[in-house]
Amino acid sequence: MICGSQKKSYLKSQNLKIFGQGKLNGRVKISGAKNSSLVLLAASLLTNEKIILDNVPRLTDIENMGNILKNLGVDLVFKKNRLEIDSKNISIKELPYELVNGLRASFFCIGALLSKFGEAKVPLPGGCKIGLRPIDEHINGLKALGAEILIEEGIVKAKIKGNKNKLCGTHIKLKCPSVGATETLIMAASLAEGRTIIENAAREPEIQDLCQMLNKMGAKIYDSGKEKIFIDGVNKLNGCIHKVIPDRIEAGTFLIAAAATSSSIKISPVIPNHLEAVTHKLQESGCLIKIKGNSIQIKGKEIKGVDVETAPFPGFPTDLQAPFTALMTIADGNSKITETIFENRMNHIHLLKKMGANIKLNKNVAYIKGVKTIKGMDLAGSDLRSSAALIIAGMIAKGSSKIYGLEHLDRGYENFESKLKMLGIKITRVFDKKNLMYKEIKIDSESEDIQKFNAA
Ligand code: UD1
Repeated sequence: MICGSQKKSYLKSQNLKIFGQGKLNGRVKISGAKNSSLVLLAASLLTNEKIILDNVPRLTDIENMGNILKNLGVDLVFKKNRLEIDSKNISIKELPYELVNGLRASFFCIGALLSKFGEAKVPLPGGCKIGLRPIDEHINGLKALGAEILIEEGIVKAKIKGNKNKLCGTHIKLKCPSVGATETLIMAASLAEGRTIIENAAREPEIQDLCQMLNKMGAKIYDSGKEKIFIDGVNKLNGCIHKVIPDRIEAGTFLIAAAATSSSIKISPVIPNHLEAVTHKLQESGCLIKIKGNSIQIKGKEIKGVDVETAPFPGFPTDLQAPFTALMTIADGNSKITETIFENRMNHIHLLKKMGANIKLNKNVAYIKGVKTIKGMDLAGSDLRSSAALIIAGMIAKGSSKIYGLEHLDRGYENFESKLKMLGIKITRVFDKKNLMYKEIKIDSESEDIQKFNAA
């Protein structure tokens, strides 16, 4: 078995070789949502009974989260896309830094561990460059629920205040609708004493998925998907079987890839209203979209430049900003892409410029003047969604490209290249033995004026 760090460097020496100007054609199956699966894994810690999750994507992020849970004593069995989770023998100890590092969602275990065991010790998320993404909303919410929290040497140490053994329901108003904080606090409040109200809660579909599963487990959560969520704490949660919702970000990536290559494809299963902001923008840019049941058909036409501003759900997802930017590079006319959720999520811009895109970046706003064509290049994505954007750019480009950064891509897209291959794209995973190229390209993936940033 390859351990995490070995696997990462093994992946770093791989690239996807893409022959540009290809077309996609046919139907593609969308996998289960990564971000739902991660939080559902954390929620499984809340019960001593078995949780069975169906439609879990096979991704390195899920594998890493599984290893974190195993480290706590959780018994996990993966059979194809079904995951059986048994937390009855869990022994509470500190989550290991090496595993938590780089997987932000693992921090979300803090709410479940605290409310079930009365204490939790979780390293700060986000790797060595601490301070990239704050966790104040998580911490303040847990404190309001009756936790005492100390941050020492990079470890968040939380325990229930006084000699109580339960958190206490309360009224929390989030400063910003953080997805992770809403999830942490919902899990913590599920086993608290009395009612918790979360105001300015995030409304993302993954939160609704979490609440649906928790309610199946016996929780009493009302109005998930709205800005004000009510949670009546219960004494105990049970096991259940739950099917993870389809991944709206993977679905959006395929729609954008089809638009970028003037192709026709059908994607399913999806929940079309999870993708409304994206399908509207694609329609505005000239694509034909047909929605029928749980499928979306897209027919790419000549693309017009459109402006996009990312926003919390139901707005345009920040996770699709980079792929959409790649699409806009070859649009007819101008477009303006504004990133409002994360302050430094523009790592793909200087790489798209190397491919010939005409983009001016001013802080978090990209001004794009569409060009007729971009050229294939060897480049490395520096985070999950920028890697996806480069692959889309490689499909559009004249000539071939080698895209590195697969250690990011494999975190979030299940069988990406085989799905693209089935749709007709000439794409191959190449193992570069010497790994020399990556070293060169790695320099290319960093820009002096853009801070490195790990999203998703
Ligand atoms: C989740 C998703 C990620 C997605 C993001 C926004 C997972 C595993 N990841 O990340 O793919 O891009 O939602 O849709 O589900 N913030 C604070 N204080 C906090 C927490 C967040 O100020 O305590 C800020 C962040 O800096 C950011 C904004 O809130 O600017 C949104 O972050 P958040 O919604 O928390 O993202 P994640 O849950 O980390």
